[in-house]
Amino acid sequence: MKIDILTIFPNMFNNIFNESIIKRAIDANKVEINIIDFREYSKDSHKKVDDTPYGGGAGMVLTPQPIFDCVESIRTKDSKVILLTPDGIQFKQRIAYDLAKEKHLIIICGHYEGFDERIRTLADMEISIGDYVLTGGEIPAMVLVDSITRLIPGVINEQSHLDDSFNDNYLLDYPTYTKPRVYKGMEVPEVLTSGDHAKIKAWREEQSIKRTKERRPDLLK
Ligand code: ADE
Repeated sequence: MKIDILTIFPNMFNNIFNESIIKRAIDANKVEINIIDFREYSKDSHKKVDDTPYGGGAGMVLTPQPIFDCVESIRTKDSKVILLTPDGIQFKQRIAYDLAKEKHLIIICGHYEGFDERIRTLADMEISIGDYVLTGGEIPAMVLVDSITRLIPGVINEQSHLDDSFNDNYLLDYPTYTKPRVYKGMEVPEVLTSGDHAKIKAWREEQSIKRTKERRPDLLK
């Protein structure tokens, strides 16, 4: 998969994809991630990308020209264009799964007080990562790329994400433990050291349901 991220703050992405699973996915050619500074597409003599809002009001608004020119120069029939904005649909694991099947994602990071409304016409999908307002779409882009990349076939052991919280069954993950068996007086549940795999499976399912009921009853609807 190819992912192009359009931003005016390319340095925010320094190193974020150079560690751990994402780095391995890049090294194994499972994903190619390009950070594109759309300021370079500005036709303004000072490379301006924003202007004051028509009708007045505070702050600056991203102008359409640099983003349109950038998207139009990289988009192909296989591209899916995503605009990051707090008024988009809320990002969920289900969406990450669907996007992990795409060939080419173009992710537009909004910034400042907002973007010219006409920029929305470029997008196949508008996504918000949650009901809070960030300074821009860069951190949301990192969230999307991380969650999508780990779901690309071959990036991690498939069982690892089949067990994840928020999959189709909409249950939270069960509790996990590692060594030592007793730490500061806290013991690992006996069933986990029993070697009885059927019992362990049943315990984990039960714990998943219990945890979901306690913490996220909304997921059980
Ligand atoms: N830009 C600013 N806040 C955002 C959010 N919560 N999700 C996506 N993009 C954003």
